[in-house]
Amino acid sequence: MRTETPPVIRLADYRPSDYLIDRVDLDVRLHPTETRITATLALRPNPAGEAGAPLVLDGDDLTLLAVALDGQPTAPGAIETGPRGLTLHQPPGRPFVLSLETQVNPSANTKLMGLYRSNGVYCTQCEADGFRRITYFLDRPDVLAVYTTRIEADRTEAPVLLGNGNPVESGAAGADRHYAVWHDPHPKPAYLFALVGGRLGRIGSSFTTMEGRAVEVAVYVEPGKEDRAPYALDAVRRAMAWDERAFGRAYDLDVFNVVAVSDFNMGAMENKGLNIFNDKYVLASPDTATDTDYANIEAIIAHEYFHNWSGNRVTCRDWFQLCLKEGLTVFRDQEFSSDERSRPVHRIAEVRTLRARQFPEDAGPLAHPVRPQAYREINNFYTATVYEKGAEIVRMLRTLLGPETFRAGMDLFFARCDGTAATVEDFLAAFAQVSGRDLTAFARWYAQAGTPVVSVSGRHDPLARTYTLDFHQSLPVVATEASAGAEPQPLVIPVALGLVAPGGGAVAARSEQVRDGVFVLEQESGRVVYTDVAEAPVPSLFRGFSAPVKLAHALDAGQRLTLLARDSDPFNRWQAAQGLALDVLTARARAGAPLEDEAGADGAALAEALGSFLDAEAVADPAFAALVLTIPGDQEVAQEIGANVDPDAIHRARRTLRRHLGRALAPRLVALRERLADPTEAPFSPDAASAGRRALRNAALDLVAAADPETGTRLAEAQCAGATNMTDRLAALATLALLPGEARERALQAFAQTYRAEPLVLDKWFSLQAMIPEAGTVERVRGLMRHEGFSLGNPNRVRSLVGSFSLNNPTQFHREDGAGYDLVAETVLALDARNPQVAARLLTAFSTWRMVEAKRRARAEAALRAIAASPGLSPDVGDIVGRSLA
Ligand code: PHE
Ligand code: ZN
Repeated sequence: MRTETPPVIRLADYRPSDYLIDRVDLDVRLHPTETRITATLALRPNPAGEAGAPLVLDGDDLTLLAVALDGQPTAPGAIETGPRGLTLHQPPGRPFVLSLETQVNPSANTKLMGLYRSNGVYCTQCEADGFRRITYFLDRPDVLAVYTTRIEADRTEAPVLLGNGNPVESGAAGADRHYAVWHDPHPKPAYLFALVGGRLGRIGSSFTTMEGRAVEVAVYVEPGKEDRAPYALDAVRRAMAWDERAFGRAYDLDVFNVVAVSDFNMGAMENKGLNIFNDKYVLASPDTATDTDYANIEAIIAHEYFHNWSGNRVTCRDWFQLCLKEGLTVFRDQEFSSDERSRPVHRIAEVRTLRARQFPEDAGPLAHPVRPQAYREINNFYTATVYEKGAEIVRMLRTLLGPETFRAGMDLFFARCDGTAATVEDFLAAFAQVSGRDLTAFARWYAQAGTPVVSVSGRHDPLARTYTLDFHQSLPVVATEASAGAEPQPLVIPVALGLVAPGGGAVAARSEQVRDGVFVLEQESGRVVYTDVAEAPVPSLFRGFSAPVKLAHALDAGQRLTLLARDSDPFNRWQAAQGLALDVLTARARAGAPLEDEAGADGAALAEALGSFLDAEAVADPAFAALVLTIPGDQEVAQEIGANVDPDAIHRARRTLRRHLGRALAPRLVALRERLADPTEAPFSPDAASAGRRALRNAALDLVAAADPETGTRLAEAQCAGATNMTDRLAALATLALLPGEARERALQAFAQTYRAEPLVLDKWFSLQAMIPEAGTVERVRGLMRHEGFSLGNPNRVRSLVGSFSLNNPTQFHREDGAGYDLVAETVLALDARNPQVAARLLTAFSTWRMVEAKRRARAEAALRAIAASPGLSPDVGDIVGRSLA
């Protein structure tokens, strides 16, 4: 059996549904292997559709037990079922009721789409097209219905029964069984449907909205883990309050439930009133979760909650509009985290993710516009481009319009599109209306793939006392299936900027082209002229990373040092240090970077600048200092080099620079570690300030160890054994993981022993080992795949072990002999039979294969071709492999 690639679906071919469904009544009788679902659908012809067309309902992996039309059995031949759904050949030309009884097997559902069981808990996942695995349906986001769901289950197996909306009634259903009825008054697409049944612990509290509605908020977790849920519960309440303050959005049901499950394909899901989460993004205690885990929990809880408006009340017309809910909601969660924590620190983190994940995606064979023009498998489009670049577009819109007009546009969008399935055009129309601006050119950000490059050159004229900046944008031509492939048109690029005097301080210069600190580059080229500039300044460009572009601007080291020391914009101070390091790293890596090489004069200048920076500011803002100390990662250097990349050379260059920085800064770093230590009796707090201190202490440890492995081993061993929280323990273990020897193996063993009953902590242990940049790692990972704590059936385990290896261990994934590629390719194939979505995602690690040097490139291509030739590939993997090789 050889699956053919699924057909292309095009945005241009969108047609409204021929039928609509107004109401859905579900009766779900849960059973481990024979769950029965009765669906009663109130249908009617869509005036916007084709009259008299057959009714074609989607269905996948369903057993149809019974069907009735307006309460009557259907005539023989009136209905046809196939592997993709059910067709009613001659539906009535008026409203009618179709009742369907289907049977599914939740225990055999390893795809984790539709109704499945996770650790015995029944749960559902319907985005993007999982509802069709529960019953036959018009499974498309522009069909909105009001749902009433009756859930029935064995009382002991599933004492907790949850659905969308508000609880209506519950009671006994015979001796051993019970039921609950839930009603969701808000019309929604099927992808937002959810139910849960199982043994679950609960913690709750209440929240009163600004409209005066008392909401019962609850978090459900595995029984016994309730003490790890309060942080998530608190994050829900903070998110609710923030959305009222920042966007005027209030919650609209009487209950809001969050359920944590262990087997989940993604991070979490915004089902109406019943968010279902990967437990990794709910459970937290000081001993099991790191500061990063806490920050992720806060962000993802907020993200899913914010979807209640951006996604649920206003949903998407079709899946091409995915960024309408995802990009916007990521923007909203980023704003929330920035307000709750440190804005500059969070901005830097956002940009690091964008550059590490989205830029490479946009430069490779999987590149696609934020709104793709075509797809074969929608599950493969939940990408960094749709999410992260999508959020950047919304942020640029705010920069262009200013915060007040932006907010007015958001208000209009929500008001006008409430209860509808909207498009990117609807979104932009709201902003065009409130601002009176034409946003047609701006809309190109949604349609053109690839990262723009903006080159800038500056000239000071001492006689005229002017400073002139010339801007030029160049746009890559991206010809992939998902992209229109047309000649790119200039983008509207907001450039936040300012001038810094070489001796420090802002330059009080003015320019007619700059408004509120922003110049808008709208054509291919543009010019900014500042007047009254006595002395040649240093330009600070794209402050706060005001647009998702690559900046080509020849700053010399001296100018970068000025910005690092003196710019008023924290992002560009950090960027200046990154730029200095990147110059050193790319130069060295291009030259092959012999390991024993010294870092050279440029490295020494960087070390000196970092030294003064630490002296002046480390204690005042440790979180920021930790970021300034962290040099760009392997992937970023690879991106900068662009072609014929040798991952080993990059790695050697990074090691040399880290060793050099560590040596130069060691006395300061050791002193800082002591100065920033928490008093031993202080209880753990995950707040941003405490997390920042830990981050800087651990960044210091890492550099000390890079310079002096012996001291590093001693310090890390002691910290790993004595830590009172997971952040410090794991950071120490990560440092040790880079230092081959007995101490490392001892510490790894002790860690595994301590946390053997904690799958989410073992994930960290899997992941650290998968990232060891040594030749033995492929074998180590193979060994760990046989560990009793590992399972191919659990997405978190797969991502921690094989995902970390493929994404975060460039030297070993790209091993010259191809052993890394083979490991990942084998895993993709083994997994594909069970869980195609996770398999396809794992395969995307190959998407940068064309960038590596010839020998490795040939191995990667061979591995991809072998996958492509395997029999019975899923559409998901078939799509990724096909596009990767195209
Ligand atoms: N919509 C989810 C989010 O909040 C992501 C998701 C997609 C989850 C598909 C499950 C399946 O981003
Ligand atoms: Zn989302």
